[in-house]
Amino acid sequence: MYNAGKVIIGILIFLGLFTYPIWSPIVLGKAGPPPQLEKPDPAKGKVCVEATDYMRSTHMSLLNNWRDWVVRDGNRIYTGLEGKKYNMSLQNTCLDCHKSREKFCDRCHNYVNVSPRCWECHIEPEYKQQQAVAWRSK
Ligand code: HEC
Ligand code: HEC
Ligand code: HEC
Repeated sequence: MYNAGKVIIGILIFLGLFTYPIWSPIVLGKAGPPPQLEKPDPAKGKVCVEATDYMRSTHMSLLNNWRDWVVRDGNRIYTGLEGKKYNMSLQNTCLDCHKSREKFCDRCHNYVNVSPRCWECHIEPEYKQQQAVAWRSK
């Protein structure tokens, strides 16, 4: 019966492939629970630049517009929800409320598998602070 081992292995491989649709999302992490985002507390009267749903779906093009308006048109003021005025800046405005890029932007981006290349040039405040501390303690 020296073939039994091979037969069993064959069956296991077959079962593995056959049940692939069931285990692959678990193993490859596609159907994991949505990430916990660190958000400013809306109860403290803090709201985003625009409505949350809009931000969730459209922050990418909002940021693109901000960049174009600042860099091409030299306009730095954006009027958002309820007529509030904002300085159009990724690091100074978005990250002023969303303090941790890692616990907010990155967490969601990792989950949906996008990695915007903004941070090569735009330095987030927390990172800046770390650098300053590291530099001072030299
Ligand atoms: C190669 C470097 C580089 C990359 C990569 C880059 N930017 Fe910029 N960005 C700049 C520079 C330089 C300015 C002009 C700075 C200014 O005038 O204040 C700017 C300005 C901006 C501004 C307006 C000013 C401000 O303080 O934020 C926004 C918004 C912006 N970029 C968004 C983005 C986003 C979103 C990404 C990623 C998708 C990105 N940028 C990637 C270099 C870069
Ligand atoms: C004045 C503070 C403030 C500023 C500035 C701000 N946000 Fe927000 N943002 C919030 C708050 C508060 C929430 C959560 C609201 C809620 O949970 O209903 C939020 C929610 C979001 C969400 C949706 C998160 C989710 O629940 O899915 C995204 C995406 C987002 N912000 C991106 C940005 C970007 C990009 C910028 C800069 C263009 C920005 N925010 C600027 C306070 C701010
Ligand atoms: C709730 C989830 C969520 C949060 C939080 C979030 N994003 Fe996104 N972001 C997305 C999704 C989803 C996409 C991809 C959209 C697409 O491909 O059409 C995206 C795309 C982007 C893009 C365009 C990337 C590209 O290559 O086209 C930029 C820039 C961006 N996000 C910036 C930010 C910044 C800055 C923050 C934090 C202040 C943030 N996002 C927080 C979900 C999120």
